[in-house]
Formats: sequence, structure tokens, C-alpha cells
Amino acid sequence: MLKKITILSFLLFCVLAIFAQSPKSPHGVKFKIDCTTCHTTEGWNKMNEKGFNHNKTKFPLAGQHKMVGCKKCHPSLQFNDAKTECSSCHADIHQGTVGRDCGRCHNSHSWIIPNANVKQIHRQQGFVLLGAHATADCNRCHTSASKLRFDNMRTDCYACHQFNYQSAKRPNHKTVGFGTDCERCHNMAGREWTAKGRGFVHSSSFPLTGAHKAAECRTCHWDNYSAAEKEDLAKSNQCNSCHSLKNSDKARFPAHTTKYLKYDCGDCHNTTSWSSGVRFTQHDSWGRIYSGKHKGKWTKCTDCHNNDAAYVANCSKCHSFSSGKLP
Ligand code: HEC
Ligand code: HEC
Ligand code: HEC
Ligand code: HEC
Ligand code: HEC
Ligand code: HEC
Ligand code: HEC
Ligand code: HEC
Ligand code: HEC
Ligand code: HEC
Ligand code: HEC
Ligand code: HEC
Repeated sequence: MLKKITILSFLLFCVLAIFAQSPKSPHGVKFKIDCTTCHTTEGWNKMNEKGFNHNKTKFPLAGQHKMVGCKKCHPSLQFNDAKTECSSCHADIHQGTVGRDCGRCHNSHSWIIPNANVKQIHRQQGFVLLGAHATADCNRCHTSASKLRFDNMRTDCYACHQFNYQSAKRPNHKTVGFGTDCERCHNMAGREWTAKGRGFVHSSSFPLTGAHKAAECRTCHWDNYSAAEKEDLAKSNQCNSCHSLKNSDKARFPAHTTKYLKYDCGDCHNTTSWSSGVRFTQHDSWGRIYSGKHKGKWTKCTDCHNNDAAYVANCSKCHSFSSGKLP
């Protein structure tokens, strides 16, 4: 009898001893890492600070996460319960307006986003923040930015600048017939609505060449802005409609006022300069000067047209006859 009791007590002691030495692990049955990697003999809550290298897990601890206690992320102490997606632990403050992938814009160092990254975020959306856009308050475009909502919105100029279009006066875009494709003429990097859009190609019947390239749109289109607010486009591509001879030019080249008048300035002049490259090609249809025997033999129109008043051709400078017919 005593023998039996002794044996039973011994067995009971052994069981108790086993329980006392290794209590049930809270980390789950599949957890295989040696207890002493993390625990010390001073008690289960006295951790071995340096023991466990978290960077070998699927979720290396960086930034602010290094300061966070294990239990904040592993409340169940079943370590593989934790999910690696930021949104599994952090509430989506943006209310679903930017998606679940917080790591696209944030890291674990801070929620604050540096200016350069804000620009990058916009570039990725195909909306580069340039000029006045780069310095505008977020709220100007994201009406709920103060609530950290960044709802989808249109990125075309007209979506935000409809008011500017409607109220444009010089010129009145609607009257003049300018389209709502602002980018054709305006550059969003500009802080003003001057028109020098990158891709702007001027009317094919009047390409801007020579001195016209540098001329402001307004000098041709609406500087002669009438009180009636009728701001028509330059109506004609005839040079004469914009250019006329100044009195000083008339004095120097009186022929301009008589015979030349039925021609357009562009029949003889180019758009770069009034004084160079003058070439009156039509002349050859009644008197060959750019071809035939006279090709390269004269230097100035006045070699033949020295009688400016009547513009009669005079051959006597080189010939002693006057047939009046050129070869
Ligand atoms: C990777 C590190 C790590 C390893 C390895 C580890 N533990 Fe833990 N254990 C912890 C952490 C962290 C806590 C929570 C400490 C606290 O409360 O701050 C903990 C808590 C405990 C607790 C106390 C539970 C409670 O509710 O307070 C026990 C018991 C325990 N561990 C047993 C074990 C046993 C047994 C092993 C070996 C099989 C083991 N642990 C291995 C990290 C570890
Ligand atoms: C900021 C949150 C965070 C903190 C703080 C943190 N962990 Fe983790 N831990 C994770 C995440 C997320 C995982 C990945 C879970 C997985 O592998 O499925 C992980 C994985 C682990 C794993 C591996 C689990 C597995 O099965 O592979 C262990 C062990 C672990 N952590 C222990 C700890 C200990 C010990 C501490 C404190 C020293 C700690 N963790 C602090 C988030 C954290
Ligand atoms: C497993 C849970 C977990 C995951 C996953 C996680 N965090 Fe954390 N994070 C925490 C905890 C816990 C804190 C401590 C502060 C707290 O309690 O909110 C913290 C703190 C931070 C902080 C410090 C600022 C603050 O709120 O105190 C930042 C920033 C942060 N996390 C960013 C991230 C980012 C970005 C990701 C994804 C790459 C991420 N976290 C993933 C749990 C997590
Ligand atoms: C498309 C980029 C983007 C994504 C994705 C994103 N955020 Fe943000 N988040 C921001 C911006 C921008 C701010 C404002 C930062 C600032 O003011 O410096 C912000 C601010 C925050 C703040 C700080 C709020 C405060 O107190 O000022 C938290 C917290 C935050 N985000 C959490 C998250 C979480 C959680 C996720 C994922 C669910 C997430 N964010 C996804 C862009 C993003
Ligand atoms: C001039 C207008 C404008 C300003 C100013 C502006 N944004 Fe945006 N933002 C946009 C546009 C347009 C988009 C693209 C929206 C879309 O695609 O739906 C955008 C997109 C975003 C997104 C979402 C990106 C994503 O991937 O979903 C965030 C976050 C954002 N902006 C934050 C900011 C912050 C923070 C500021 C201030 C520092 C700011 N924005 C200033 C026009 C602006
Ligand atoms: C998401 C809205 C948004 C879009 C899209 C947008 N802008 Fe803006 N734009 C603004 C805001 C806001 C300002 C700053 C206004 C201020 O500071 O008063 C601005 C300023 C400007 C300015 C400076 C002159 C002014 O009125 O302040 C020009 C020029 C301009 N934008 C051109 C463009 C062009 C060209 C496009 C298309 C390529 C465009 N914008 C697209 C919102 C937008
Ligand atoms: C076909 C070319 C063209 C298109 C398209 C165009 N504009 Fe203009 N816009 C101009 C020209 C040219 C000026 C005068 C610029 C100058 O004075 O240098 C101008 C001037 C403006 C002005 C200043 C007006 C004033 O009264 O001072 C605003 C505002 C403006 N545009 C807005 C817009 C907006 C918004 C759009 C698109 C919805 C747009 N424009 C489309 C050519 C265009
Ligand atoms: C040197 C004079 C001159 C300048 C400078 C000039 N234009 Fe014109 N533009 C004309 C003439 C002339 C026409 C008419 C052409 C025709 O009908 O054959 C015209 C036609 C147009 C048209 C209507 C045809 C079309 O392509 O849609 C637009 C729009 C226009 N101009 C915009 C501009 C803008 C914007 C600028 C400044 C970047 C500008 N113009 C600068 C002379 C000029
Ligand atoms: C719609 C009006 C318009 C038309 C049409 C036009 N021009 Fe001009 N032109 C201008 C403007 C504006 C300037 C800029 C100089 C100025 O302010 O007088 C200019 C400048 C010039 C200059 C440079 C003048 C200088 O002082 O250096 C020449 C040369 C010229 N134009 C030739 C021509 C020729 C040739 C044609 C016909 C092919 C023509 N222009 C058609 C408006 C026009
Ligand atoms: C039939 C040809 C012809 C026509 C048409 C014509 N010009 Fe001329 N123009 C000339 C010639 C030739 C000269 C002298 C150039 C030289 O010295 O080589 C000249 C000289 C000038 C000069 C002086 C340049 C200087 O050297 O300072 C101006 C200004 C001028 N023309 C303007 C005009 C204007 C404006 C028109 C239209 C209203 C016009 N021309 C029409 C042939 C023409
Ligand atoms: C080799 C001699 C010669 C030269 C050089 C010459 N012309 Fe003439 N031009 C003539 C003759 C000949 C006529 C026709 C007879 C006449 O009207 O006297 C004529 C006629 C004209 C007429 C009148 C056409 C009409 O419609 O009645 C003009 C204008 C004219 N020339 C302009 C020029 C200009 C501009 C130049 C210089 C670029 C020039 N000519 C150079 C010989 C010349
Ligand atoms: C600037 C000098 C100059 C002027 C002015 C001039 N010519 Fe000539 N002309 C020439 C030269 C040089 C020849 C070529 C002679 C040669 O090749 O044998 C020529 C050849 C001719 C020929 C051909 C003669 C032949 O033998 O084949 C005729 C005809 C002619 N000129 C008529 C005129 C008439 C008419 C005028 C006035 C309207 C005129 N020329 C003005 C220089 C001039």
C-alpha cells in the first residue's frame, strides 16, 4: 500500500515538476525558436533585449517601429498572426481615397510627406505640379485635403480653369473661337496666362516666321481692341492688312506708293527684315531679271527704275538703246 502511494506521489511530483519548469508556451505549438533567445531566467516578462533578430522575419523593423513593444504588434503572442500590410495595423485615415497600399507614399519613419515626394506622387498621376501649381495650397485643388481625403478628379486644365476661360477678356476666348484645350496655347508652368504653349502651332495659312515668331499674340490679334469688345482674330494673312509704309520709307522709296501698291508687301519682302532678301519673282513674267541675260547683272531695282515717280524702266545705265523689252 505504502509502496503504491510512494509511486503515485512520485509520478505526481514528476508531472508537477515538468509543468513548473516549462509552462505552456503562449506562442503556439508550431513555434520552434529556443525560449532563451528571447527570455531570461528572471521571469517571462524580463526579455533578452538583444536576443531576437527581427530583421530575419518577413517584416524587418525600421524607423519608428524599432521603438514599439512586441505586444503592440503581436497582441496574441502568436507571432505569425501579424500581417505585414501597413493597413492591417494602421487605420486608413484617407477614407479609401488613395487605396490600401500605404507604403506607396509612406514609410515607417514618419507620416509626414516631404515636398519632393508630393511632387512625385503627382507626377505618377500624370499631373506635374509646375509654376503656380507647385506653390498653391493643397486645398485649392483637393477640396477635402484638410480631412486628408484626396478624391479622384479630372486633370485637364478646363476642369479647374473653366472660370478663367469664361471670364477671359483680352481676348474674349468664346468670341474669338479659342478652344478649351488650354494646353495648345498656354503653359501650366507659367504664372500668367501669356500664350506660349509648348505645342502651339500657328495657323498653317500664316505660319509665324521671322520677326513674327517673337511678336506677342496680342500685337496681331487684339491690340486694336475696339470698344465694342469685338476682338477679332487677325482676319487676313495679307501683309498689307497689318503693314503700311511710314512716310520716311515713302520718301526713300517713292515707288512704293505708286506702282507697288497693287502688290502685297509679301510679294517682295520676307518676314525677317524689310531691308534684306527683297525678291520680286513675279517680275520675270513680263521682264526677266532673275533669269535670262540680266540674271546676276544688276544690283538694285533702281538700276533700271531710276525714274521713281513714274516707275519707268530706264536702260541707259548699261545700254545705249531703249527697247523697253527685256530678254
Ligand atoms: C522571439 C522571442 C520569443 C521567443 C523565442 C519566446 N518567447 Fe515567450 N514571449 C515573448 C514575448 C515578446 C512575450 C511577451 C512579453 C511581455 O509581456 O512583454 C513572451 C511572453 C511569454 C510568456 C508569458 C505570457 C504572458 O501572458 O505574459 C510565456 C509563459 C512565454 N513567453 C513562454 C515562452 C516559451 C515557453 C518559449 C519557448 C518555447 C518562448 N516563450 C519563446 C517572446 C518570445
Ligand atoms: C511594428 C510591428 C512589430 C513589432 C514592434 C514587432 N513585430 Fe514581430 N512581426 C511583425 C510582423 C508584421 C511580422 C510578420 C508576420 C509573419 O511572418 O507572418 C512579424 C514577425 C515576427 C516573428 C516571426 C513569426 C513567424 O512565424 O515567422 C517573430 C518571432 C516576431 N515577429 C517577434 C517579435 C518580437 C519578439 C518583437 C519585439 C522585440 C516583435 N516581433 C516586434 C510586426 C512586429
Ligand atoms: C503589425 C502592425 C503594424 C504594421 C504592419 C505596420 N505598423 Fe506602423 N506602427 C505599428 C504600431 C503598433 C506603431 C506604434 C504607434 C501606435 O501604436 O500607433 C506604429 C507606428 C508607426 C509610425 C510612427 C508614427 C505613429 O503613428 O506613432 C509610422 C510612421 C508607421 N507606423 C508607419 C507604418 C507604415 C508605413 C507601415 C507599412 C510599411 C506600417 N507602419 C506597418 C504597427 C504596425
Ligand atoms: C497617394 C499617397 C498616399 C497614400 C497611398 C496614403 N497616404 Fe497617408 N498621407 C498622404 C498625404 C499626402 C498625407 C499628408 C502628409 C502631410 O501633411 O505631410 C498623408 C497623411 C497621413 C497620416 C498623417 C495624418 C496627420 O495626422 O496629419 C496618416 C496617419 C496616414 N497618412 C496614414 C495612411 C495610411 C494608414 C495609409 C494606407 C491605408 C495611407 N496613409 C496611404 C498620402 C498618402
Ligand atoms: C493644382 C492642383 C493641385 C494641388 C495644388 C495639389 N494637388 Fe494633389 N492632385 C492633383 C491632381 C489633379 C491629382 C490627380 C487626381 C486623380 O488622378 O484623380 C492629385 C493627386 C493627389 C494625391 C493622390 C495620388 C494618388 O496616387 O492617388 C495626393 C495624395 C495628393 N494629390 C496630395 C496633395 C498634397 C498633399 C498637396 C499639397 C501639398 C496637393 N496634392 C496639391 C492636383 C493638385
Ligand atoms: C486640379 C486643378 C487644376 C488643373 C487640372 C490645372 N490647374 Fe492651373 N491652377 C490651379 C490652381 C489651384 C492654381 C493657382 C491659382 C492661384 O494661386 O490663385 C492654378 C494656376 C494656374 C496658372 C497661373 C495663373 C493663375 O490663374 O493663377 C496658370 C497659367 C495655369 N494654372 C494653367 C494651367 C494649365 C495650362 C493647365 C492644364 C495643363 C492647368 N492649369 C491645370 C488648378 C489647376
Ligand atoms: C488658341 C489659343 C488659346 C487657347 C486654346 C486658350 N487660350 Fe487663353 N489666351 C490665349 C492668348 C493668345 C491669350 C493672350 C495672352 C497674352 O496676352 O499674351 C490668352 C489669355 C488668356 C487669359 C488672360 C485673359 C485676360 O483677360 O487677361 C486667360 C485667363 C486665359 N487665356 C485662359 C484660358 C483657358 C482657361 C483656356 C482653356 C480652357 C485657354 N485660355 C485656352 C490663347 C489661347
Ligand atoms: C504676326 C502676326 C500674328 C501673330 C504674332 C500671331 N498671330 Fe495668330 N493669326 C494671325 C493671322 C494673320 C491669322 C489668320 C490666318 C488665316 O486666316 O489665314 C491668325 C490666326 C490665328 C488663329 C486661328 C487659326 C487657328 O490656327 O486656329 C489662332 C487660334 C491664332 N492665330 C492664335 C494665335 C496665338 C495664340 C498667337 C500667339 C502665340 C498668335 N496667334 C500670334 C497673325 C498672328
Ligand atoms: C496680322 C498682322 C500682320 C501680318 C498679316 C503681317 N505682319 Fe509682319 N509684323 C506684324 C507685327 C505685329 C510685327 C512685329 C513688329 C511690330 O510691332 O511692328 C511684324 C513684324 C514684321 C517685320 C519686322 C519689322 C522690323 O521692324 O524688324 C517684317 C519684315 C514683317 N513683319 C514682314 C511681314 C510680311 C512680309 C508679311 C506678309 C507675309 C507680314 N509681315 C504680315 C504683324 C503682321
Ligand atoms: C514690288 C516690290 C515691293 C513691294 C510690293 C513692297 N516693297 Fe518695300 N521695298 C522694296 C524694295 C526693292 C526696297 C528696297 C530694298 C533694298 O534697298 O534692297 C524696299 C524697301 C522697303 C523698306 C525700307 C527698308 C530699309 O532699308 O530701311 C520698307 C520699310 C519697306 N520696303 C516696306 C514695305 C511695306 C510695308 C510694303 C507693303 C505695304 C512694301 N514694302 C511693299 C520692294 C517692295
Ligand atoms: C534690268 C532692268 C530691270 C530691273 C533690274 C528691274 N526692273 Fe522692274 N521693270 C523693268 C521693265 C522693263 C519693266 C516693264 C516696263 C515698265 O513698266 O517700264 C518693269 C516693270 C516693273 C514694275 C511695274 C509693273 C506693273 O505692274 O506695271 C514694277 C513694280 C517693277 N518693275 C519693280 C521692280 C523691282 C521691285 C525691281 C527690283 C527687285 C525691279 N523692278 C528691277 C525692268 C527692270
Ligand atoms: C545694270 C546694267 C543693265 C541694265 C540697267 C540693263 N541691262 Fe540689258 N543687259 C545687261 C547685260 C550685262 C547684258 C548681257 C550682255 C551679254 O550677255 O552679252 C544685257 C543684255 C540685254 C539684252 C540682250 C542683248 C543680246 O545681245 O542678247 C537686251 C535685249 C537687254 N539687255 C535689254 C535691256 C533693256 C530693255 C533694259 C532696260 C529696261 C536693260 N537691258 C537694262 C545689263 C543691263
